[in-house]
Amino acid sequence: MSDKKWTIVNPGGGRRVIVTKELPGEHWKQILRRADCSIEICTDPAVLSKEEIITAIGDRCDGAIGQLTENWDAEVFVALRAAGGTAYSNGAVGYNNVDVAAATTNRIAVGNTPGVLTETTAEMAVALTFAAGRRVTEADRFMRGGRYQGWLPTMFMGQRFVGKTVGVIGAGRIGSAYARMMVEGHKMDLVYYDLYPNLALERYVAEYSAFLVERGEAPLTCRRLGSVADVLRVADVVSIHTVLDDSTYHLIDAEALAAMKPDAILVNSSRGPVIDEAALVEHCRANPEFRAGLDVFEDEPAMKPGLADLDNVVIVPHIASATVWTREGMSSLAAANVAAILQGYPVWDGDDIAPFLAGDVPQAAPSIVNAEDLEASNL
Ligand code: DGY
Repeated sequence: MSDKKWTIVNPGGGRRVIVTKELPGEHWKQILRRADCSIEICTDPAVLSKEEIITAIGDRCDGAIGQLTENWDAEVFVALRAAGGTAYSNGAVGYNNVDVAAATTNRIAVGNTPGVLTETTAEMAVALTFAAGRRVTEADRFMRGGRYQGWLPTMFMGQRFVGKTVGVIGAGRIGSAYARMMVEGHKMDLVYYDLYPNLALERYVAEYSAFLVERGEAPLTCRRLGSVADVLRVADVVSIHTVLDDSTYHLIDAEALAAMKPDAILVNSSRGPVIDEAALVEHCRANPEFRAGLDVFEDEPAMKPGLADLDNVVIVPHIASATVWTREGMSSLAAANVAAILQGYPVWDGDDIAPFLAGDVPQAAPSIVNAEDLEASNL
């Protein structure tokens, strides 16, 4: 039996949707209300266990919105299907917490929320880069500790970014937004590793470089390197923007860290397990000039022993997407995914999700990750 508190919005709705966490804004509720849904929201901040989710699904549930902290595995999707459910949306762009294949087997559409996190998450990666490189949080603690006795020429010296090389692992939407911010803002050369070339990003840097040259400034370069290790070796700053799957688990391990420059900066706003966090603790301890900025953790919400004691690491609690606009947008997209599937609408054909963010939304699901598999399986 769960002791978690739930609240119901639009109790008279003909369809039942459960939402495992309170979401920001009102628009997402309007979307579900207009789709004739009663909305049952868990108002407890604690993470729901699998058993609690299954209990909440009960014997009648049409759809659900869940969070990246929860384990939406085969057992949950079997329960959702048995309760008559056909739609699930993660309230996140990442969905490594979801067994998509099991959802497909159970004929449940799985939605996510791309398009509203891009610049917001990249901005946090930039913030972590600068906080780490310029020792902002360390200096903040110093001030609050009453230790500032007067200006000194040697105090809190950090990294200068202009003219250095920024490295990006995973040059998708967020990775390339981060790359552009660093290149354009700080005139840095770019190296990246991605399975596929990002020609739009390469063109962007080439055009910016031509603009600089026209103004009599030095040109900039953008190179896709052959491996992650190549990026780690040459970059002064490395930001990680990959998905988490078997191929990226512990992508940055002790060996990878050892390949980096001793005073490099490593930033992670993707998923914690992409970095071997225990190895990072060891590396930062042994290399005080090395710095890291972390938004995500391997055993979230826990940190590996020793991480919080390190002055050369900046840590924030998985808030890279936490702006009002983005989080409300994520909620609208998640609601629109569920509402559209329950009403039998098709998947939105295009990348521009702006029409889903206010007012009446299109008669389409903005992003269903298993749409093709559902269609192909024709179950
Ligand atoms: C996501 O949407 O995957 C993010 O990690 C949430 O900030």
